Amino acid sequence: MDDAAALRPALGAQVVVRVPAKINLHLGVGRRRADGYHELTTVFQALSLYDEVRVEPAAALEVHVRGEGADQVPCSDDNLAVQAVRAVAALAGCSPAVKLTIRKGIPVAGGLAGGSADAAAALLACDALWGAGLDRDTLGRLAAGLGSDVPFALHGGTALATGRGERLSAVLARGSYHWVLAFAHGGLSTPAVYAELDRLRGCADLQPARADQVLAALRSADAAALGRALSNDLEPAALALRPQLRRVLDAGRDLGALGGIVCGSGPTVALLARSNAAALKIAAALPGLDVCRTVRRATGPVAGARIANG
Ligand code: C5P
Repeated sequence: MDDAAALRPALGAQVVVRVPAKINLHLGVGRRRADGYHELTTVFQALSLYDEVRVEPAAALEVHVRGEGADQVPCSDDNLAVQAVRAVAALAGCSPAVKLTIRKGIPVAGGLAGGSADAAAALLACDALWGAGLDRDTLGRLAAGLGSDVPFALHGGTALATGRGERLSAVLARGSYHWVLAFAHGGLSTPAVYAELDRLRGCADLQPARADQVLAALRSADAAALGRALSNDLEPAALALRPQLRRVLDAGRDLGALGGIVCGSGPTVALLARSNAAALKIAAALPGLDVCRTVRRATGPVAGARIANG
């Protein structure tokens, strides 16, 4: 059998990968680099809010998107998951002819890295479908080439990231945390939020803020300390572009959340609850305050992208 034939999946084969959303417990943003990206120090946590990506053999590459905000997701090469399919095909030396189906549970342009999650899932799914046998380092390198948040979506759990967000290191993180996610109407563009931050800061040449307090809270599984330590340098920029997000943060505090934060570049807001019961209470009360589109509960940390039909 030639190499290409060996990489051809059996007829009827399909691979389904489930991949989580992320939040940034700490997001320290430093200077804008020559390549346009900002130097970051961030602590990611993967949450139990998932997209599902399915790949199966097809005559040509076709893309279908369903679920939460599907009409806003491009089916072209602008879609990071499509780029991921092509990247694995190029490395494996096979054709990218697959039917790619993305089921969105993660809101689009919500600051939860849903597009990056889909790319990570597509990498894993195509590797399995074609039996390409790519090792972790190779998948990680492909992931970093696709976007700053893609390596973490493969990794999952809790991790410290530097560089533009793609260089991951393990942290000692204990405990499981209860989150209430407030989804907003419409999304925010990540480049626009970074540009607003640059405008607000002027030409300050900053180092990214260290994550010491968040890391100490995670080491001791201290949810109250984590609530106090949550920090996001992009938050003032997201609030400048979307002032009504302040109402969600205020409502969370009034409802007894241990802390609240704009997720990444927003506009989703994450509220940390003391317990599952406290999360239920916050999630039940928020819709009546008319401060967000809808509410979901999630726990973290959870594992990264994983094959779900294996
Ligand atoms: O890497 P990714 O494609 O997800 O980044 C989207 C955009 O977010 C970048 O084009 C850039 O404008 C902004 N960004 C940044 N610095 C980072 C990560 C993202 O300025 N570290």
